[in-house]
Amino acid sequence: MDRLTIRNARLLTLGGSGPARGGDLRDLGVIDRGFVRCAAGRIERVAAGDPEPDGGLELDAGGRVCMPALVDAHAHLCWGGDRWDEWDRLRAGTPWPEILAAGGGILSTVRATRAAGEDALAEGVRVRLQAMARLGVGATEAKSGYGLEPETEARMLRAIATAAERSPVLVQRTFLGGHAIPPEDPAWPERLAREVIPDFARRFPGIAIDAFCERNALSVEQCRAVLEAARLAGLPSRLHTDQFTSMGGAEMAVRAGARSVDHLEAATAETVRVVAASNAIAVMLPCSGYALDGRQAPGRALADAGAAIALGSNANPGSAPTVDLRFAMHLAVRHAGLTAAEAIVAATRNAAFALGLGGQVGSLTPGMHANLIVLEDRDERSLVHAFAAEPPRHVVLGGRVLQG
Ligand code: NIG
Repeated sequence: MDRLTIRNARLLTLGGSGPARGGDLRDLGVIDRGFVRCAAGRIERVAAGDPEPDGGLELDAGGRVCMPALVDAHAHLCWGGDRWDEWDRLRAGTPWPEILAAGGGILSTVRATRAAGEDALAEGVRVRLQAMARLGVGATEAKSGYGLEPETEARMLRAIATAAERSPVLVQRTFLGGHAIPPEDPAWPERLAREVIPDFARRFPGIAIDAFCERNALSVEQCRAVLEAARLAGLPSRLHTDQFTSMGGAEMAVRAGARSVDHLEAATAETVRVVAASNAIAVMLPCSGYALDGRQAPGRALADAGAAIALGSNANPGSAPTVDLRFAMHLAVRHAGLTAAEAIVAATRNAAFALGLGGQVGSLTPGMHANLIVLEDRDERSLVHAFAAEPPRHVVLGGRVLQG
């Protein structure tokens, strides 16, 4: 059955030709009572009122909310091992940057990932994608970044592709070779920019490039070289920046034309101004603030200054051990000052643009992937205000209703 119509729904269409900012960031594009018709995995029609029968499967939403499936703008998803011992140390008061400086954190996962085979890595990604799909996520990023040498980074990117081929979730791969500096190779950032990014651009078409600008990770200068290598290779770039320390990374990334600046918990008022005035999307990651130290990006200030804000789960084994983007939405409202409508736009339309998938997912627009969710409620604020909640009533990915 490749035809599906969801009728009698409160529709959030969330359309737009670019990322939303300002008043647009609160515009859900509501159709009070309407239908979405899907055919061959794509959205065919979105309209008010009732559809003509077309012989395909029909779901009566009973007035419930039907909206695009969620889009996770920042997720790691591929790693070996676990970090539960480290979690105990974090809870006992050791700050995350100190754990990294002592060779733990990201570097501990690097050791485990280097030791993991490609099948095991792909299986881990598959399990996480399956969990995301159940929660209503229809598209996500999946980063490498726990290899920090070419062979393991390539294995991670292949493992992500293998899992993505078997999943209904649309996956955008990011090469996060600049996640940290491996102790045995202090010149890694320079080699990454000079040799590895040009090579990976040929071997893995369509990837984005990412790095982590922070004390004990890459310097602003090293990140600048990584972003410049991406530009020369014709690839979009992103930057983890201003998470713990304000070092000028966001300003540099904006000048370098990065597609997004991610984290921003330590962003100053001036950084907020610069980011808001730029084309870069401000990707907030509230789950890591929740898990680590309670600090959150200045969401309200960013929104008021006119930034294009997106949200990510930041799923990873250390700072955000969750794949639940809905929890990130909840935290963005509860602890970073966004409204429910802003969180919804940030986790659909704007997240899609942060991944370069703005023409494909994140809104109910004819021609886009038929990735949508029907909520249990008739008021979309339930999606954001509730936490540790049940999955949506229906998840439709590629025009098919997900079972189980
Ligand atoms: O986005 N900040 C850098 N990278 C991840 C953390 C990864 C980890 O803890 O393994 C983040 O929070």
